This record gives sequence, C-alpha cells and structure tokens, in this order.
Amino acid sequence: MTRVVISVGGSVLIPSLDAHRLKEWAKSLITLTKAGIQIFAVVGGGGEARRYIDACREIGLDEASSDEIGIQVTRINAALLIGALKEHAYPAVVTSYIEAKTAAISGKIVVMGGVTPGQTTDAVAAVLAEEVGASMMINMTAIDGIYTADPKKDASAKKHDLLSPQGLIDLIMKEKMTAGSNMVIDLVAAKIAERSGIPLVVIDGRNPALIENALLKGEFAGTIVGEKKIMFPIV
Ligand code: UTP
Repeated sequence: MTRVVISVGGSVLIPSLDAHRLKEWAKSLITLTKAGIQIFAVVGGGGEARRYIDACREIGLDEASSDEIGIQVTRINAALLIGALKEHAYPAVVTSYIEAKTAAISGKIVVMGGVTPGQTTDAVAAVLAEEVGASMMINMTAIDGIYTADPKKDASAKKHDLLSPQGLIDLIMKEKMTAGSNMVIDLVAAKIAERSGIPLVVIDGRNPALIENALLKGEFAGTIVGEKKIMFPIV
C-alpha cells in the first residue's frame, strides 16, 4: 500500500479555535484513504502554540521547556483531528515513530503531533516518512510552494516547480541571515529529506481539496523537493 506522510500546519488546520477547518481536512484525508493510500498525518501547533509559547517567554521559561509546551499543543490539535476523522483514524495520538508504525497495522489514518524539542513538526514528518518507507512527504501550510526569495518582501520572487534538497538547504541557510524570516520548511526536515531521498512536496494547505487534486487527479501546482519530478496522480 502506498504510504504518504502529510504535515498539516496548525495554521491551516486550526487557524483559531473559532475558525478551524477540521471537517474539511477530515473529508480530504478520508477520501485519500478510500483511494488506497495509507495516510500518516503530522499536525502542527499553529496560532494556539504560538500564544502558549509567547506566554512561556513572558514568564521566563527556557526555550526547550517552551518547546515542550508547544508539543503538547500540537498533540491537542492532533486529538481534534482524530475526533473529526472518527472511525477512520487510529483512536490515540501517537507520540513516537515506533508507535506510529504499530498503529499503521490497523490500516487507519495515524495522527501525531510533535516529538522532541528544538524542531517543528516538519522534522517529525520527515523522520516518520523515512521510518515508514513513505513514497513522499507532503507539507501543507499557508503558502503555495517554495519561492526563490520571500514573496512578501521580494516582488520578483519566483516559485520553484522542482528544487534539489541541497538547493532547499542553501535557501534556508540564506534566509536565516534575514531577521524575522519565516522559512516554509525547517532545516532538520530539509536535511532528512536530503539523506532519505524521499521527495518532499509543498502544496497550499489553505484549501485541503488541493491534496486530493494532486494525488488523485494529477492537478499539482506546488513545489517538489527532490532530484526529479513526481508523476501525479499517484494511485
Ligand atoms: P509546529 O510544527 O506547529 O511549528 O510546532 P510551526 O512552525 O508553528 O508550524 P505551523 O505554523 O503549525 O505550520 C509548534 C511548536 O511546537 C514545538 C516548537 O516550539 C514549535 O514551534 N515543537 C513541535 C517541538 O519543539 N518539537 C516538535 O517535534 C514539534
């Protein structure tokens, strides 16, 4: 069975508790499962995690302990997604890669959040993709691909259709020098994508249906990080 790891940014799954898109996401993930794809969803913390982390900083908590609180928020978001997926999801939020592999035996959608301080859920998704032998890792966040520069700051920035893993690492390193920059993928995830050779695909997560369009209909408009293009649809 084709295995796909999807990193669902908290910012697109649960922009806020009032404005969540849990039902839409559940519908898309269930459609992919019914098409014969084993889905592993790694859920981010989004705005709620950021608010908790800001409160941690205000009270003088160190960064790693603040990360631990961020991880708890990703797991609450993961639990909400499980709630929306109902019987289609493995019922518990898994907290390690080995648990994720065990849960996958059920054939249901496996959902997890963060794992360890010092990274984001992008890195979790990249490691999980390696451990479960996924055919790709898909990052669904609030942008439609990876650009040559930050499109908010540079009007001449162009979207990459295909970018090598080394090209992505170079881009992240360059971006890091600019204060306040916010890279689409974290460096740990990029390094793992490079060593595993598993393609990393960026799709606009603001519309969950775009993942169905890419994987099932072949309508893809994001960025592929890898050595060669992927033939969509995949099933
Ligand atoms: P996210 O993965 O959501 O980070 O984790 P993010 O950059 O805010 O991503 P989006 O906006 O949801 O796409 C939230 C926070 O949880 C901690 C980090 O502090 C991170 O910023 N975290 C998460 C970890 O420390 N380790 C993990 O494995 C995951």
